[in-house]
Amino acid sequence: MSIIEALKWRHSLKHFSPKKVDSSIIHNLIEATRLSASSYGLQPYKLLIVDDPTLLNQLSEQAFGQAQVKECSHLLILANKTHITNDLVDDYFEHHHQQTQTTEGSLAGYAEHIKTAIGSKTEEEKQTWAEQQAYIALGSLLAEAAMLSVDTCPMTGFDTAAFNHTLGLTDKDLNACVICAVGYREENMAAQNKVRLPVNEFATFL
Ligand SMILES: Cc1cc2nc3c(=O)[nH]c(=O)nc-3n(C[C@H](O)[C@H](O)[C@H](O)COP(=O)(O)O)c2cc1C
Repeated sequence: MSIIEALKWRHSLKHFSPKKVDSSIIHNLIEATRLSASSYGLQPYKLLIVDDPTLLNQLSEQAFGQAQVKECSHLLILANKTHITNDLVDDYFEHHHQQTQTTEGSLAGYAEHIKTAIGSKTEEEKQTWAEQQAYIALGSLLAEAAMLSVDTCPMTGFDTAAFNHTLGLTDKDLNACVICAVGYREENMAAQNKVRLPVNEFATFL
């Protein structure tokens, strides 16, 4: 299936069948999310996976009762970091040196440039920046799920403070930014119409 066909096939599922998603597929989704692009490659977010029915029921209540959260096979939570400091940049370059065999310190000038750029943001701007990066990762997750014929429902309709409390995120300097229910549609489900701007309204060649 091409990515266009997959994106036409996917829609945000409101009700999931009881079928569970295999753990190997969940690992594919984790990998697609991990491999997503992010500003400077800093990945200022984490991915949390919940499949415990009791916890899903509790989170569904904190998502205004939305059924997707309790019916899905797995709930994937993109949580942005809330404490954006130079440590984030230092951690990145530690991984960079390990994974690319560059010598430590060889990118010190670039690291300083990133620290200055991020350090010049207000706390609010840092949060917005971190959340924006998490949304890009959500796109990779949705696309990979569609390619694997796995259904999803991306969601921001939930009580962030309640999620942070239930999942113990605040103590870890994390914030539930956007969630994605993952599972399967009922087999006999009718195809859903896609509503999108016509291409001539959407894209402009300048
Ligand atoms: C960031 C974001 C938040 C969303 N929040 C919800 C939500 O809380 N509940 C819901 O049922 N759908 C939610 N959606 C799904 C959108 O309504 C859906 O993507 C849109 O209507 C387009 O339809 P489609 O995804 O089925 O093609 C959300 C989508 C995005 C991208």
